[in-house]
Amino acid sequence: MRHLMSPMDLSVDELEELMNLAAKIEEDPKAYAHICDGKILATCFYEPSTRTRLSFESAMLRLGGQVLGFADADSSSAAKGESVGDTIRVVSSYADICAMRHPKEGAPLVASSKSLIPVINAGDGGHEHPTQTLTDLYTIYSLKGGIDHLTIGLCGDLKFGRTVHSLITALVRYTDITFVLISPEELRVPSYIRDDILSANNIPFTEVEKLEDAIPDLDILYMTRVQRERFFNEEDYLRMKGFYILDKEKMALARKDMLILHPLPRVNEISVEVDEDPRAVYFEQAKKGVYIRQALILDLLGLTK
Ligand code: NCD
Repeated sequence: MRHLMSPMDLSVDELEELMNLAAKIEEDPKAYAHICDGKILATCFYEPSTRTRLSFESAMLRLGGQVLGFADADSSSAAKGESVGDTIRVVSSYADICAMRHPKEGAPLVASSKSLIPVINAGDGGHEHPTQTLTDLYTIYSLKGGIDHLTIGLCGDLKFGRTVHSLITALVRYTDITFVLISPEELRVPSYIRDDILSANNIPFTEVEKLEDAIPDLDILYMTRVQRERFFNEEDYLRMKGFYILDKEKMALARKDMLILHPLPRVNEISVEVDEDPRAVYFEQAKKGVYIRQALILDLLGLTK
């Protein structure tokens, strides 16, 4: 039995297979509409979510399976003091696979060690978010035709943004990737990402503060919101939240084929006027998240054909 805690749990070949399967599902969804008949996905979400939870549910329903779960800790027995280990032992007899989101780093890993069914980390605190990374990789793969030879700018809250941490971790295994890390001084990537992942693998990267300086060189611009819920005080958040606003003016400096990705939710870091720009693919990205989650569910349940 396999779990998914980090994108590193999948080799580059396995990622490729998943993306190929997602592409087949995207092309012919009807062919996969009953593969999970009789199977149940549990979504155990101890933290707010729109896309991740609903896209998992949509993915399972589109495969013919069914879903159950809870969308906040207060409506589960966590409010009574139950551990994630006990919760997953019980959920293991109610469902065949579980997607879990938790504000504490490592909680889904603890759950996986007690689980009798595959557990997917759907975001653990400021740590990792592997299925967002699958979504990001699949979006790049389908719209750029591959993942090698790219200059990728990551902009915003690189300190607390778990999607950024997982994406960098996954991308260092591809060929000829250059990172431009665009953030205010206080929101730079954690040192374990800079030292143990980027420097240790000899990956070229620069850290800059101004988006205008970086944007002309980019193939991909990955925008992120400032992660309000992970700040220790509101004042710091308020100071940081308007730091980057991607607007038409800045887009005029970008390449004609640059893609803008964003895991969503957007707060104010991308002006709505940019939504009409053909380079803005974040809503398409959210849609592709369903296909790749369908592929992942099939894989973890051993139902790939
Ligand atoms: C991200 C998350 O939860 O980390 N959202 C998502 O899953 N699409 C990004 C965010 O909340 O900013």
